[in-house]
Amino acid sequence: MSNRKLVAGNWKMHTDRSEAIKLTTEIIRLSKMSDVEILLAPPHCLIPLVGNLIADLPYIELAAQNISEHKSGAYTGEVSAHMLHSLGVSYVILGHSERRKYFGETDQIILSKIRRAISTELKVIYCCGEGLEDRNTAIQNKIIEAQIQSSVLQLTPDQMQDIVIAYEPIWAIGTGVTARPDQAQQMHAFIRSILADHFGEQIAMQVPIIYGGSVKSNNAQELFAQADIDGGLIGGASLDAESFVAITEAFE
Ligand code: 13P
Repeated sequence: MSNRKLVAGNWKMHTDRSEAIKLTTEIIRLSKMSDVEILLAPPHCLIPLVGNLIADLPYIELAAQNISEHKSGAYTGEVSAHMLHSLGVSYVILGHSERRKYFGETDQIILSKIRRAISTELKVIYCCGEGLEDRNTAIQNKIIEAQIQSSVLQLTPDQMQDIVIAYEPIWAIGTGVTARPDQAQQMHAFIRSILADHFGEQIAMQVPIIYGGSVKSNNAQELFAQADIDGGLIGGASLDAESFVAITEAFE
């Protein structure tokens, strides 16, 4: 168990201007300061708007859903890490299975984005997760180990201070099928053991490992009670202020 607790709302490609204002305002109204870091990851174009609304609240921070792997230049349509950092963004979600699947992001691209983020003072929520077929053939540990090996194990111990790992089994994303708490715990403990073997116990214990995949207000408490689950990366339920805030309060 890391000593940090963190719940992030990944809004994906949802909300427009007025919906984002309403959702953020409601989250601000319902949430209270605690030792839980709350992150909101709206679509890029709504980041300044959401950022202005949460400006006075130190316990709510901004995350981006993507960055360009390039520093700057002639890359039409891309958004750089520096642009987002200059708007007050502190985290970026990288390695999400939707980016891997729909946008062809390879391990190599993801690693170069991780490096770009860290060198631009953005912290990274690195997502890993196995598919249903992998789980059914019991090769989930191999898949996760390969993902961790190609990403965070390439970093220096110092850079690990900027890393949060999100375990998001693909079969649990947006399906309503949550991993059982013991299944999630097993994988989180496995991820922590990989970090301990490579970086040592101290760093392994510092890195928050959060769970994502159909987390709702009625299952968050059981998940967050597991020894190696330090919070959640929330999709669907983060679009409802009441559900999202309830999830941020689901720690013992
Ligand atoms: P759901 O909570 O909708 O399953 O999405 C999880 C996710 O992909 C968060 O990044």
